[in-house]
Amino acid sequence: MAKVTFITADDEQITLEGDSGSVMELAVQNDVAGIDGDCGGVCSCATCHVHVAPEHLAKVGSASEIEQDMLELDDNANEYSRLCCQIELNEQIDGVILRVAQ
Ligand code: FES
Repeated sequence: MAKVTFITADDEQITLEGDSGSVMELAVQNDVAGIDGDCGGVCSCATCHVHVAPEHLAKVGSASEIEQDMLELDDNANEYSRLCCQIELNEQIDGVILRVAQ
């Protein structure tokens, strides 16, 4: 079981728990504003873009090459960017904070 906190564009904090699937799926199932998951999680839309809290980046890991290619098309991408459909929900990421990217 992992707890994940999302911070939306309105600075609303939403903490959710899950134990399988991706972080994007958890967000979409719980209507987190700004996470749309349009491509269904195949890393081809960037509507699941988040910025990982800097202190949590090591836990979550950095973006894969395919993910980086997609993020390059997004003006708001930075070194803390991830597409959260590519983050697996597991104990390793318990407690992470993710800011929904604009
Ligand atoms: S849901 Fe489309 S890239 Fe993540």
